Amino acid sequence: MNLTAKPSSPPQRSHFSVHSFAAAKAAGEKIVMATAYDAWTARLLAELPVDCLLVGDSAMMVMHGEPNTLGATIELMALHTRAVARGAPDRFIVADMPFLAMRRGEAHAVDCAAQLLRAGAHAVKVEGVRGHSEIIRHLVESGIPVMGHVGLTPQSVHALGGFRVQGRDPGAAERVRGDADLTEAAGCFAMVLECIPAMLARELTRQLEIPTIGIGAGRGCDGQVLVLHDLLGLTPDFQPRFARRFVDGAALVRRGVARYSAAVKSGRFPKAKEAF
Ligand code: KIV
Repeated sequence: MNLTAKPSSPPQRSHFSVHSFAAAKAAGEKIVMATAYDAWTARLLAELPVDCLLVGDSAMMVMHGEPNTLGATIELMALHTRAVARGAPDRFIVADMPFLAMRRGEAHAVDCAAQLLRAGAHAVKVEGVRGHSEIIRHLVESGIPVMGHVGLTPQSVHALGGFRVQGRDPGAAERVRGDADLTEAAGCFAMVLECIPAMLARELTRQLEIPTIGIGAGRGCDGQVLVLHDLLGLTPDFQPRFARRFVDGAALVRRGVARYSAAVKSGRFPKAKEAF
């Protein structure tokens, strides 16, 4: 007997591919990216106009309650990626290369990227560029689309002295510009700009050929990415300035579970029609 309820509406087929990023930039159309870590939210996102799902290593913080992303392993990232690919088989999926995956040589990076692509990702995202631009190039030449990530790179949280805005003073801004240039030159098809001043992000977006996807980088970017749980208001204790809550998801969860609990305690759940 199949006890599984039928999904309400089938996932929408998306034609967004790696080439769509450049096309969107050329057409001046904003790119919408959101994180997804599991099959059921991916399935919901697949019904919506979200161009690209990011299996971010933020999963470590959002789903596993850790203080940073350093604990993400390639096995964990592949597991989350597989779940997202099952939920949203027609969406363009980018998966994060975990902490230090790019620093153990070319063969290790290729193995990690292969695991993510075999799990269902269409591209990998790589934080930073200095010291591993050649490995990015090698991945790209091996047929693996790579999204870059400059500005605040959370895997370097300890080197950066915390989750801080980058590129505020002229020297720091010059470093971000250099990172962005190196990222584009290495062959990335797009790059995330995280937590840099809006003016700097706008300047980079104008100068770079590849699209920029901002998070905490103002509206001048070619697209935006947010952690799904932040935009749904599911992280009540964490509200960074840049992350707008589009709904109060925490209130919805609290209300739903409180109603369930009250119904069980009072004997109003389940009804006869909810039993066999
Ligand atoms: O891991 C992640 O979710 C990310 C985004 C915040 C860009 O890298």
